[in-house]
Amino acid sequence: MHKKTINDVDLKGKTVLVRVDFNVPLENGRITDATRISAALPTIKALSGSKLILCSHLGRPEGKRNPEESLAPCAVRLAELLGKDVPFIDDCIGDKVAAAVANMKAGDVILLENTRFYPGEESKDKEQMLAFAKELAAPAEAFVNDAFGSSHRKHASVYGVTQFLSPCVAGLLVEKEVSMLQKLYNSPQDGFIVVLGGKKVKDKIGVIKSLLPRCEKMLIGGAMTYSFFKAKGYEIGSSYCPEGSETLAQEVMDAMKDHLDKMILPQDVNMQNVAGDHSTKYAAPTAIEPGWDAQDIGPETAKMYADLVRAAKTVFWNGPMGHFEVKPFDQGTLEVAKAMGECPGFNVIGGGDSVAAVTQMHLEDKIDHVSTGGGASLEYLENGSLPGVDALDEK
Ligand code: 3PG
Repeated sequence: MHKKTINDVDLKGKTVLVRVDFNVPLENGRITDATRISAALPTIKALSGSKLILCSHLGRPEGKRNPEESLAPCAVRLAELLGKDVPFIDDCIGDKVAAAVANMKAGDVILLENTRFYPGEESKDKEQMLAFAKELAAPAEAFVNDAFGSSHRKHASVYGVTQFLSPCVAGLLVEKEVSMLQKLYNSPQDGFIVVLGGKKVKDKIGVIKSLLPRCEKMLIGGAMTYSFFKAKGYEIGSSYCPEGSETLAQEVMDAMKDHLDKMILPQDVNMQNVAGDHSTKYAAPTAIEPGWDAQDIGPETAKMYADLVRAAKTVFWNGPMGHFEVKPFDQGTLEVAKAMGECPGFNVIGGGDSVAAVTQMHLEDKIDHVSTGGGASLEYLENGSLPGVDALDEK
């Protein structure tokens, strides 16, 4: 990596603002998956000679205080994982933070409240964003970005604070994620399979345009499939297709016309009779009927995709193949997850439900890299860089 990391600077005894991504799933105030907290431990432990002020966002509170999106449960979980106290500060700027930092000794770790409780965090008005960043940076002497999952956001706590602190370096998670994705980004086309699922074409346009010319095959699944089917003029019944989405799908196909032979759409689907008895059946893409909702790739497609994944030299997978949370529409995603585990090539999973599928099948040890950032890994593969990483000190 061409950016400095915590191994390139001496932060001993310093008060360091560490941006982590503790945007974890919560149910009734309980953390249901603490992977992102565990992922920050190597950096936190490596900086045990510093005073660490951790900050993060959680959810999308849009500039207002919302107790349901408090980071308090993360402080409790982090304390358990570290085996020491992690005081939680009920604010992220101002007097409460200053008072807590004044009492810190080397080795202490505190966690601040959700940065998105302030509108400055995400503000498009640069002055407002920087004014908030300045307040956030005020108690610290140095900045470490270990929030890979948020590094595609040009927000105050990721990007803005780098204007007020020095040094600004990467944490160990950011270093690992960037080096793995860099390897993927530079992979040779031969044997490079990309599997893209998920709901919205809109979220995948950039990565389709960037990776389609550079991969051997791109396998499409998930609900975004039906926008492509509709664009091709097929009947899609009640299948998911937000308004205008078929136009986006058509635009992508037009822009990528020289590479479309590499973009593979499902050959069959599993659909449900939502207008009637809720029975399910498999159908060809051209045989979806009104009143039926296609919710997964069918068995022929699942087998074809799994065979291609198993034989790949390099694979990147982002997004489920179907309505993974509901049986029997989990089958396509589970088939791909199994094949990922069996692929001896360099295999990387980028975020969200694809990670959940692999974890459910206990295959995570068979994957070279499971990214903690869905949106961030897609944006890295689209542009080969991320604003929150670009802003750090050059090596
Ligand atoms: C994520 O969950 O992908 C990151 O934490 C970023 O969250 P955001 O999409 O709300 O910015």
